[in-house]
Amino acid sequence: MDAETAHKHARRLMDEAAALSGDETVALIEKHVAPNYGLLSRDPVVKAEGPWLYCKSGKKIFDGVAAYSAANLGHGHPLVREALKAFLGSHAPTVLGRFLPDPWLALFGRKITEMTGFERFLPANGGVEGPEAAIKLARRWAHQVKGVKGTPTILYADQCFHGRTLTVTQMFVEEEKAARDGFGPWPAGFKRIPYNDLAAIEAAVDEHTAAIMVEPIQGEGGINIPDEGYLRALIELGRQHNFLVIFDEVQTGWARTGELFCWMHEGPEARPDIMCIGKSVSGGYAPVAGILASEKLMKLFGPGSHGSTFGGCPISSCIAYAALHAIEEEKLVEQAQEKGEWLAERLAAIAERAPRIKEVRGKGMMFGIELTHDGPDGHHFTELLLEKGAIIKDTHHWVLRFTPPIVASKQDLEFALSCLEEVFCGQTADA
Ligand SMILES: Cc1ncc(COP(=O)(O)O)c(C=O)c1O
Repeated sequence: MDAETAHKHARRLMDEAAALSGDETVALIEKHVAPNYGLLSRDPVVKAEGPWLYCKSGKKIFDGVAAYSAANLGHGHPLVREALKAFLGSHAPTVLGRFLPDPWLALFGRKITEMTGFERFLPANGGVEGPEAAIKLARRWAHQVKGVKGTPTILYADQCFHGRTLTVTQMFVEEEKAARDGFGPWPAGFKRIPYNDLAAIEAAVDEHTAAIMVEPIQGEGGINIPDEGYLRALIELGRQHNFLVIFDEVQTGWARTGELFCWMHEGPEARPDIMCIGKSVSGGYAPVAGILASEKLMKLFGPGSHGSTFGGCPISSCIAYAALHAIEEEKLVEQAQEKGEWLAERLAAIAERAPRIKEVRGKGMMFGIELTHDGPDGHHFTELLLEKGAIIKDTHHWVLRFTPPIVASKQDLEFALSCLEEVFCGQTADA
């Protein structure tokens, strides 16, 4: 196809999308797309900038969950947008077999290892591929290095969330029927332990233990923050009992909690053997994820052991390389610290006057607003907040997750606070 034909055809595609009404959009999704997600709104989002989403109807919504922390840099960060435009203009290949060298993967690989202090990076696509790869690596280490005979065991935490593939689906608690039922039998070699309970780990560890995998703060589980020192103690236990420690920073990473990664709050001794990353590593522009580990561990993944057609492809690598620069240029960590402290105070003041708020907890700009159980649950409040113009979404029925884009200005954040104030205290903030 020549360039002019392609241009005209692409224009028609854009016009087609622009002409779809809200009802038509919803009807097409409901007819043709698997019903594995329910819709909260019937007003399509057609534009996004920074923390704001713009709907077909003209309504403007504050994205108070930052697309589940994939948009820590806000939507459409200009540095990533410009890099992507230049990349496309350069006619670089968007995808390549990994048997061919690509300058973008070279630059991305160097940057991500320098920023995180790990020696090697394994690139992947969706966040869940991180835990999957980490489990494979831990099992191989258990068989080939630790010398486990039989089935190596991976310990995981009660109320964890690591994604939706078969391996990690069994990790949902039994009450989570929609997530679990009908998907068994489960792969062997996994053991659930309570979160934030070191004694339980000591009791569970045996000669088959390959690794423990935890989120440094449980996100989906309801913003559960472990005691100070828990992460460091896990590393210590791993050394004592010869098992690996995997931290899933897919949601807590990239400045969300006020450090580049959440384990960094506990100092360098809390560095895990394997770290899973995803979401904001691409500035929300593309599915990019993966794991980081030492040279020694990653060497267990020789050619043929693991891979993905699109993992580390040139276009993803270029996007992520630009997003990592944006994270530094924006001083995202400092922003999360400063605005996080300010938000914590403001949220605590709202909670004091809101009978239905039991507790507000958080770190950096990752907050959970826990509700009392004597009335409608979190979903009801999510709907009320959306009516006011903010997405602050329920998880586990009684907790609202508030994880706004870190680049949101205080003025933008004031809007979200005023929505919370109106919904929970019945009046507008003085902002
Ligand atoms: C801690 C954690 N791990 C893994 C995942 C899975 O990421 P994805 O949905 O991109 O597969 C998520 C998603 O929310 C997450 O919060």
